[in-house]
Amino acid sequence: MSSSFFRRGESVPYVPLATSPSPDPLKRPFKSRYIFAALLTLLVSLGLNITLIIQSRYDNANPLDNYQALNNQTLLAEDSPRILADPSRHAIVTTLYDDNFAPAVATLGYSLRKVNSHARLIVLYIPSQVSSHALCIASSTGFEPHPVDRIAPPHDGQGVYYHFVDQYTKLKLWTLDDLGIESLVYLDADTLVKQNFDELFALPWNFAASPDVFLNRKGFTLSFNAGVLFLHPNTTTFNHMVSQLASASYPPGDAEQSFLNHYFGAESLRLPYSYNYNLAIKKRAPLLWDTLWNEAKVVHFTLAKPFLAMPNYVGVAWDEMEAHVKKQAIEWYGGLFNKEIRWWGELFAEMKTVHEVELGTCWTGNNSTSRTIS
Ligand SMILES: *[C@@H]1O[C@H](CO)[C@@H](O)[C@H](O)[C@H]1NC(C)=O
Ligand SMILES: *[C@@H]1O[C@H](CO)[C@@H](O)[C@H](O)[C@H]1NC(C)=O
Ligand SMILES: *[C@@H]1O[C@H](CO)[C@@H](O)[C@H](O)[C@H]1NC(C)=O
Ligand SMILES: *[C@@H]1O[C@H](CO)[C@@H](O)[C@H](O)[C@H]1NC(C)=O
Repeated sequence: MSSSFFRRGESVPYVPLATSPSPDPLKRPFKSRYIFAALLTLLVSLGLNITLIIQSRYDNANPLDNYQALNNQTLLAEDSPRILADPSRHAIVTTLYDDNFAPAVATLGYSLRKVNSHARLIVLYIPSQVSSHALCIASSTGFEPHPVDRIAPPHDGQGVYYHFVDQYTKLKLWTLDDLGIESLVYLDADTLVKQNFDELFALPWNFAASPDVFLNRKGFTLSFNAGVLFLHPNTTTFNHMVSQLASASYPPGDAEQSFLNHYFGAESLRLPYSYNYNLAIKKRAPLLWDTLWNEAKVVHFTLAKPFLAMPNYVGVAWDEMEAHVKKQAIEWYGGLFNKEIRWWGELFAEMKTVHEVELGTCWTGNNSTSRTIS
């Protein structure tokens, strides 16, 4: 307190000297006010944070991450058309870019035969990269081989994940109008068919695909996975797409999938997950996976490829396949995909027996020591 508080002439009140250091009379209320304010700020901030965290939890909650088995409807309406008027105008198409995928293509073809699809089965292959031995295996269960030129990734393949470097060749699907195909369903070689999906051929849209699923915070997305596609081949569209490759701006990592999302994303029909039952769904929402398993039409082995040694995409010898699959089923992702990988292994084994004669022609010398892929 300063003496200037007192006007000249006023008597200054007597203040005895403190006998021991005592707190400044002004400091005490100031200090408690400060502590009170600090506590209040802390409480308000805590409250706000908790509110925001709870709020964002609900704002970001995807109903699929929050899946509950509520609905008991069937996937397809009972009166939906499922018969193909002219099967020769519709095709189910896969691709073979290297020999390591031949056992997968053969097993996929076998799974298609089991569900009685009436469409043509076609495998696109790159002649300079696929041996006649692998092509023989890949076409042993019904796929007609159709050679195509490789389409190189734009910008010298900069930024493309190494196992996707051939994937732009998938655009060649749009040239199959040359074979009289009006509509087709494309399946990646790492898929297996569980149920007939001929109803897709009656879709009125130009393009359809199922939304993709990621393990990271992207989760259930609006962008689609390019492992299963419905499309109308049209060479004019093909030429247009190829003409856009160099100038289109998109993340290069996921190659053709990234490009296709930028080309068709705004106009694509999103198909139900049943048509691209991606293993990532099981990791992300196990209850969803188990509940809808019986409705799955096409299972996509994204996180685990039973016919390859993962994670490096190394090929597996034909005679070692069954042992490899059993091992992979238990070990990969801590056994999470045991059921699915074993199912792939069972179909592979069945396929070997049912198509023994066709497969037998694929080995020159036809003996076990020469039976290896690549
Ligand atoms: C769904 O539940 C209703 C009511 O319980 C039942 O009548 C119907 O048959 C069920 N539908 C299917 C496809 O299970
Ligand atoms: C192919 O696409 C072009 C350009 O979009 C279109 O004019 C043409 O009618 C299409 N052809 C068929 C057979 O749909
Ligand atoms: C060739 O292999 C197939 C399939 O394993 C077998 O059925 C067939 O008998 C073999 N042919 C000869 C000549 O060994
Ligand atoms: C089996 O194939 C291997 C390699 O092609 C050859 O060396 C071997 O002599 C063949 N064995 C028989 C019994 O034909």
